[in-house]
Amino acid sequence: MEIIISETYDEMSRLAADMIKHQLLKKPSSVLGLATGSTPVGLYKELIRLHKEQGLDFSQVITFNLDEYLGLPPSHDQSYHYFMDQNLFHHVNVTPNNIHVPYGHTEDIEEFCQWYEDQIERAGGIDIQILGIGGDGHIAFNEPGSSLGSRTRLKTLTKQTIDDNARFFENEADVPRFAVTMGVGTILEARKIIMLANGAKKADIVAQALEGPVTAQVSASALQLHPDVVVILDAEAGKTLRRADYYKWVYNEKKRLIPGMIGKTT
Ligand code: F6R
Repeated sequence: MEIIISETYDEMSRLAADMIKHQLLKKPSSVLGLATGSTPVGLYKELIRLHKEQGLDFSQVITFNLDEYLGLPPSHDQSYHYFMDQNLFHHVNVTPNNIHVPYGHTEDIEEFCQWYEDQIERAGGIDIQILGIGGDGHIAFNEPGSSLGSRTRLKTLTKQTIDDNARFFENEADVPRFAVTMGVGTILEARKIIMLANGAKKADIVAQALEGPVTAQVSASALQLHPDVVVILDAEAGKTLRRADYYKWVYNEKKRLIPGMIGKTT
């Protein structure tokens, strides 16, 4: 696992965008796993800038989003599909048929979840998966206790997640209680994972996930099992890491001696 503690949210976002840019230049038909929430907004802004100013091409890219609230159709302004349209898809040249966001308004959830898994497989698997981390350690909506082998399925959200996400809704009662989410096992099959976290509120859970034991009680700790994970933090989110000085030293030495190795976990 490579842990990069950047100075600011903007630097974190730029570093992640740069890694995606290199992936798309290497493989224009890359399969990207995408997250919603406030964390990746800066990354998406930077990707839009790279598209507009440098012609970064998304026309062959295939996307899979991590999750969606149950019961919200794509047109709902709090649905994750709507979020992706507003924050990325409507501003780059991604081909609409290549976009996959779990459908939260589906009749047969189990059948849909299996279909979603099949689509990821048919696309050849995810090349880069972007993740945020929830205050309770969730990745996607894999709340504490989610099996580390779990697949796409229906999950009940924790009270903490409902409270955390209430800021996007008029009141807490409007926050959906269920979501369709990729599983931890699904996520771990991505060839590369970039997890982002910013702000002091994430510092403790980030430290538990990265430096604590691997446990289903902190879903993000499962990333320790993956061979190619890059975690990019801002200074606030990285401030309680025990080995922060070591991670900074590694990053600076790479920058100085082998810049091409940044983001390539060894
Ligand atoms: C969103 C998702 C969630 C968020 C997490 C952090 O698609 O999968 O796991 O990444 O809840 O949310 P923010 O970024 O709003 O703090």
